[in-house]
Amino acid sequence: MENKIIHGDCIEEMKKLEDNSIDLAFLDPPYKLSQSYSTSVDSDNILAVASIYPSALELKRIVKKGNFACVIYDNRIIPLVLDAFKRAGWKYVRFITLYRRCGSAFKMHGWMSTSDCILLFQNGEGKEKYYGNCSHDVYVKEKLEIEGFNHPAQKPLDICKDIIQRLTKKGDIVLDPYCGSGTIPLASKLLGRNSIGIDDKLEYVQTSIKRLNTTC
Ligand SMILES: C[S@@+](CC[C@H](N)C(=O)[O-])C[C@H]1O[C@@H](n2cnc3c(N)ncnc32)[C@H](O)[C@@H]1O
Repeated sequence: MENKIIHGDCIEEMKKLEDNSIDLAFLDPPYKLSQSYSTSVDSDNILAVASIYPSALELKRIVKKGNFACVIYDNRIIPLVLDAFKRAGWKYVRFITLYRRCGSAFKMHGWMSTSDCILLFQNGEGKEKYYGNCSHDVYVKEKLEIEGFNHPAQKPLDICKDIIQRLTKKGDIVLDPYCGSGTIPLASKLLGRNSIGIDDKLEYVQTSIKRLNTTC
């Protein structure tokens, strides 16, 4: 089994991967506009967010036909990911909700963001292949992760594992082009899947490698 973490820009790194070589693309692209903002918009990170367009195209080439791309995204800018994957020729399959039952909204107005969208796209047509039992399409996360790895967007390990288990079998290859603290590669490893994780920030690459080595 191989679990590899690459430091680099995911568009450039994905160009090095062969056609039809990946069983599942599971990605959590940058969708917040910079982590250091306090109001709603920050133009710093627009290029990173826009990389979803070339990513969707590269993924179309390297993910096996009939297989999935699973994308965690922010519901406030969801038209962007739908547009990027549609233009690249992916078929939109469904929407799953990840609800975090924590954080207090009492000082806010309107709605506080406590949910992420998990979108499933299929590479072409054909029967959709799922493994294991069927379940409801809402994941509820009751508490923050026990261990934090100094990444502002660390995702829940157990939920990533559940998704990977439904979409792949042992020995398959999972690609996470925006791996951050390495949650998706780690979930893949714990389930006996091969994985390739990419991040363009060295500190996150180091965290991912450390997590893969200590499996937590
Ligand atoms: C939403 S975070 C991923 C969080 C991750 N799922 C976790 O659980 O820790 C997105 C990551 O994408 C990385 N990133 C942004 N643009 C990138 C690019 N062009 N190539 C590779 N990584 C990129 C950022 O450094 C960030 O760590």
